[in-house]
Amino acid sequence: MTMNRVARLVKRPAPGLVTPECFEIADEAVPEPGDGEFRVRAEYVSLDPAMRGWINEGKSYVPPVSLGEVMRAFSAGTVEASRHPDFKEGDQVVGLFGVQTHAISDGTRVQKVDPEIAPLQSWIGGLGMPGLTAYFGLLRVGAAKEGDTVVVSAASGAVGSLVGQIAKLKGCRAVGIAGGPEKCRALIEEDGFDAAVDYKAGDLGAQLDAACPNGIDVDFENVGGDILDAILPRMNPFGRIAVCGLISAYTATSLPPGPKNIRFVLTMRLKMQGFIVFDFAEDNATALADLGQWVKAGKLRLREDVREGGVDAFVDTLNLLYTGGNFGKLSLKV
Ligand SMILES: NC(=O)c1ccc[n+]([C@@H]2O[C@H](COP(=O)([O-])OP(=O)(O)OC[C@H]3O[C@@H](n4cnc5c(N)ncnc54)[C@H](OP(=O)(O)O)[C@@H]3O)[C@@H](O)[C@H]2O)c1
Repeated sequence: MTMNRVARLVKRPAPGLVTPECFEIADEAVPEPGDGEFRVRAEYVSLDPAMRGWINEGKSYVPPVSLGEVMRAFSAGTVEASRHPDFKEGDQVVGLFGVQTHAISDGTRVQKVDPEIAPLQSWIGGLGMPGLTAYFGLLRVGAAKEGDTVVVSAASGAVGSLVGQIAKLKGCRAVGIAGGPEKCRALIEEDGFDAAVDYKAGDLGAQLDAACPNGIDVDFENVGGDILDAILPRMNPFGRIAVCGLISAYTATSLPPGPKNIRFVLTMRLKMQGFIVFDFAEDNATALADLGQWVKAGKLRLREDVREGGVDAFVDTLNLLYTGGNFGKLSLKV
């Protein structure tokens, strides 16, 4: 008999990587849709760095996942039973369906996808939340314009790779920071960045100076910590820092030191703004039209890292994000 394989949060994690005992993974009965609902057979569960924050208690932009609740996650799948007027069997959809194989939805914030533009898994990646994050963060928060030098950290990942490629489409100089020679090679040879900086190779400051001879106008900050500290003194007057993520702190076991070079925010009159992709939700359709067009025209390359192992592999696969084990948009085939 078909069962719903599901991961429920049962314990809050200690600081550090996520540990398996935080989740109970079990088979449950496949739920039946009620009136106005449909059931999705999930195929790809999106693994996102924010998940580490969602399972912590405390103030954030969304309430934490409750103990006993199905782990929150975006996923992409196919409608397999429907009592909803707008969704029919066979529709391919993306939504917050959780870490499970079968989910019930009433259609709230569910998006139908167009497989003609890109395959299903791309709609949780470049044509989903990470793509929208890159688009709005770079163009709205970072206000990147032609001729700017844009630096992005975690540059080979889901968001970062798109930031560099969109920056190039907009006539900017794109500089990516990533860990290791293979990721840095791919940034230049595959994604078209102008320069790449390997933060694991040492002397980040000298590498940034070489990569950004005219200074930095926009920092798309995904990492924080030492990387942000190396960028701050190299920002040009009136530069923008779009704080998208601070992944170096997500699994830290002690409070990281504050930015040492914060004085450059003052002396260079920088604008530093955090943002969450949902802040721009009313403009998602415009952004998706642009992103979809670029993908279809072959102007935007989507690097995807799809892992096998199903729901049972959730914790181990998630942790790859915090150790640099992924290369591109990470998802789990379920
Ligand atoms: N604000 C928003 O709405 C929003 C939405 C989506 C994502 N984000 C943020 O965007 C960032 C990237 O997310 P993503 O989904 O695209 O993940 P990703 O970049 O595909 O994967 C994470 C990457 O971060 C790098 N990393 C991990 N720990 C690091 C450390 N201590 N120092 C330097 N680099 C480290 C690793 O690459 P290396 O091998 O290069 O180290 C890893 O591959 C995250 O900070 C995430 O929280 C924000």
